[in-house]
Amino acid sequence: MEKASLVVLISGSGSNLKAIIDAIKNKQLYAEIKAVISNQATAKGLALAAEENIPTYVVDYKKYQSRESFDQAMMQIIDPVKPDLVILAGFMRILSNDFIEHYQHRLINIHPSLLPKYKGLNTHQQAIDNQDKVHGASVHYVSYELDSGPVVIQATVPVLANDNVATLAERVLNEEHKIYSMAIKMHIEGRISFNNNQLQLDNKPLTKPLLWQDDTLIY
Ligand code: GRF
Repeated sequence: MEKASLVVLISGSGSNLKAIIDAIKNKQLYAEIKAVISNQATAKGLALAAEENIPTYVVDYKKYQSRESFDQAMMQIIDPVKPDLVILAGFMRILSNDFIEHYQHRLINIHPSLLPKYKGLNTHQQAIDNQDKVHGASVHYVSYELDSGPVVIQATVPVLANDNVATLAERVLNEEHKIYSMAIKMHIEGRISFNNNQLQLDNKPLTKPLLWQDDTLIY
């Protein structure tokens, strides 16, 4: 079997990217990251990728007239490496429908909330403001509507009485790093498929997300 070909899109610190690099190094993932693309030249994740000799690219949206032309520029980098999976890892730009359609069923995102709760930004603040007892993260395939595609795995964490955004975000991020590689593994091993847009795991409809709780994966 050939190594799976991955492309990772980032905007910031790239800690999820680092977790994926580590999962490849420790042989959890039989894959190679062929490109890391950032929309921000200052993204710390770029240095991290360069250290690993992964080709890095900056696509500066300010240089493009429209969302579509920006996305086209990214596609011109992505398509030559024929990715099995395009991974959004803290990528903070809304993608055009054309981009999403082009990579349909092989475009995946991680979002720091228990979707469908708290789509969009400031998820940790909202969990605290609403006095949620449980918060978490979701790995989902990308659909046309923001943070709305089918969810593969969710990780839960407790919200503690003295939590602030930073402490809660750190606890969630820690779990993000684990569940993202799990979902990527299921994808590249072909365990995940789509039947008429219905997400399937091992050829059976996945009607509710897998749950990563207390270091255990619940099917
Ligand atoms: C993560 O919480 C991710 O879910 C969100 O942005 C953060 C990015 O973290 N979309 P990093 O860049 O992977 O460290």
